[in-house]
Amino acid sequence: MYICICNAIRESELRSAALTCSGDADAVYAALGRPPQCRQCLDEAAVILADERERSRMVTCV
Ligand code: FES
Repeated sequence: MYICICNAIRESELRSAALTCSGDADAVYAALGRPPQCRQCLDEAAVILADERERSRMVTCV
């Protein structure tokens, strides 16, 4: 599923990038080489980044 239409960024790409790039959605988009344009997706992207990072912490603590 696409999270960012402007940059064609999929949820799976965001989840992978969340674990290799620290920072907010702006930073992750920049790391992907696709900086935000309309910015309408950034709140949803932030939720996905936080969720993936939290899930990663839970896995390493088990
Ligand atoms: S939908 Fe992501 S920057 Fe426009």
